[in-house]
Amino acid sequence: MSVNLSGRVAVVTGGARGIGLEISITLAKHGAHVAIIDKSAEDLEKALEEVEKQGVKALGLTSDATKRDQIDRAISEVVKEFNQIDILVNNVGAYPRKPFIEMTEEFWREMIDVNLTSAFLFTKAVVPIMMKRMYGRIINISSITGLYHGVPGLVYYGAAKAGLVGFTKCLAAELAPYKITVNAIAPGPILTPGVRSIWSPEDIRIQELVNPLKRFGLPRDVANVVVFLVSDYAEFITGQLIVVDGGLTFVNPRQVVKEILELKQRGEL
Ligand SMILES: NC(=O)c1ccc[n+]([C@@H]2O[C@H](COP(=O)([O-])OP(=O)(O)OC[C@H]3O[C@@H](n4cnc5c(N)ncnc54)[C@H](O)[C@@H]3O)[C@@H](O)[C@H]2O)c1
Repeated sequence: MSVNLSGRVAVVTGGARGIGLEISITLAKHGAHVAIIDKSAEDLEKALEEVEKQGVKALGLTSDATKRDQIDRAISEVVKEFNQIDILVNNVGAYPRKPFIEMTEEFWREMIDVNLTSAFLFTKAVVPIMMKRMYGRIINISSITGLYHGVPGLVYYGAAKAGLVGFTKCLAAELAPYKITVNAIAPGPILTPGVRSIWSPEDIRIQELVNPLKRFGLPRDVANVVVFLVSDYAEFITGQLIVVDGGLTFVNPRQVVKEILELKQRGEL
């Protein structure tokens, strides 16, 4: 099965590093021109080089994904450059841990803005462009957190990521008459700069052992599913949530504890 996205134009939010960067590069490898929108100018520059290496056009826009004026301006720039937008990947997100009891309303709103409202604002700016052409692919990057796993310190994140799935399903129903599909991906833990900044090497090792496929998730695991969902092979799939976690969410906790105790006994942990 080969996917050809040549002539398509993709917008990837938070695409300068981590999962978003891999999505940008992978879309480019399959022929799509890519516009990356990110707040980090430094990472953006490096990301654009990587995308251009794939022989497509790359556009980088430094914008804050929580600010409507900046988003609208960025999307106009994309349209000015490419005349069309076929693919929108709402990938931007942030996940600093904060105990619920210490969480201020200001922090809550800030985090809901970056993890949920950003998808609303980008989609709002892009959908009219897709509607005119009766074509579009929207992918929302959710998480297993909030849907399948409760994680201490991530109450706002669970709320936003579960919200993103409801957003996906209702929007899919509304945009189906325009042949625009809307799907969500729920990754398990994926090794990215964001995760490396908060997980210790020991946490990462334990996560590998806990996973039924015995490895940590990688950005390419998510990027490959994005490519499938935006391809013609997925033209009849909309309103769906695809979990990309190596089986983590169906693992039997008893089995995992047993395996870890055995490893400890053998001195391998
Ligand atoms: N890494 C994981 O384990 C994991 C698991 C499930 C879901 N996710 C989701 O995948 C997405 C990407 O995660 P990641 O681990 O690659 O993150 P990351 O922190 O490594 O990268 C996030 C990118 O988003 C950009 N960004 C952050 N806030 C922004 C803002 N306000 N405006 C513009 N850009 C902004 C950053 O500059 C960075 O380039 C997020 O939505 C995250 O919630 C990640």
